[in-house]
Amino acid sequence: MLTSEENQLLTQVGPGTPCGELLRRYWHPISVATEINEENPTKFVRVLGEDLVIFKDKSGNWGLLADKCSHRNASLVYGRVEERGISCAYHGWLYDCAGNILETPPEKNDAILNTVKQTAYPVQVYLNLVWAYLGPQPVPPMTRFDTLFRPDGNRLIRVHPQLDCNWFQAMENSMDPAHLQILHQEYIGRGRNPVNTTRGFTDDVETFDFYSTDYGLMKKRTYKNGVVDEHPVLFPTILRQGPSTQFRTPIDDTHTMHIHVNFTLTEDGSEPAEAFDPPIQYMEAYKEPAEALYPFAKFTLQHVIPQDHMAWETQGQIADRTNEHLSYSDRGVVLLRRILKEQIEKVQNGNDPMGVFRDSNHAIIDTKIDEDFWKGRTSSTVAVTETKK
Ligand code: FES
Ligand SMILES: [Fe+2]
Repeated sequence: MLTSEENQLLTQVGPGTPCGELLRRYWHPISVATEINEENPTKFVRVLGEDLVIFKDKSGNWGLLADKCSHRNASLVYGRVEERGISCAYHGWLYDCAGNILETPPEKNDAILNTVKQTAYPVQVYLNLVWAYLGPQPVPPMTRFDTLFRPDGNRLIRVHPQLDCNWFQAMENSMDPAHLQILHQEYIGRGRNPVNTTRGFTDDVETFDFYSTDYGLMKKRTYKNGVVDEHPVLFPTILRQGPSTQFRTPIDDTHTMHIHVNFTLTEDGSEPAEAFDPPIQYMEAYKEPAEALYPFAKFTLQHVIPQDHMAWETQGQIADRTNEHLSYSDRGVVLLRRILKEQIEKVQNGNDPMGVFRDSNHAIIDTKIDEDFWKGRTSSTVAVTETKK
């Protein structure tokens, strides 16, 4: 159980909030890159509570600027892109990708040109996704996790429906191994039936264990048949589960993007030409009506991820942790909360948090994807995720 102040500390993502400042130390995927194209050269995104516009200028440069024009607040989503940047539709103020104001029609206002700057953030396109860094200088490189940087596999981007809840509910779930055998019991039996709906397949598991790593945390299930199943949390917003690297990018305090990068090793170790040019798959809505909030939406539960969305969203837009009753199997959740709080304090003390590496050539981080890959082909107990009914 947390106090309401502790709950706010761990969940608020806006600029100036302690957790928001921590989250701004990392690169986050914020859009599918092909959604910005010649026909639609701008896209509105809200990231960490900030309203922004992604655009690609006619010289091929990508920009990420505050949505509201510095002149009189019209939206730059309706700006016209040109070779030099984006021109506000209202009076034509022209911005480059770094947020510099290049023109102030109808006059040339030197005072404004020399003193005013539009908020601009570094942005890059990688794996057909747009990635953004909203933190202070110097900008760190993107952390080189194996599932994002290894060349010997095929990738697929899966865009799941927006989560209408706080990001941290999804992350707590990532340190909650006990839910798999209960919540997902319809999809993990591989032909077996659960003993009953209350226990699901939980009696398959001998122990749950948790530990921290230098890039995050690990949850571990040891099954009675000897199989060990480990899924790392890549701190703070990512779960690597089987082939999927699951990003939960906070939109604001009550909405979260949910994007998976699926990485499947080639059996012979070959390096496919399209390894870094993955196709994009958009998943269908997981609730009906798709835009409605619990309790006015019904979740489909048609596979593992919709079941997770149901659990996370019905906890509330921001789960009220002042009235929960944690049990022994929730100790991974407790560990995650403790580490998040420690990392917030680290940033407040002027240090880099866990998982930020300053060397752009740092060794690729091994999240033990090989073990999962081969085990997934032999084990009868590891969950099948994202399987359609
Ligand atoms: S509001 Fe953008 S140029 Fe005037
Ligand atoms: Fe789950």
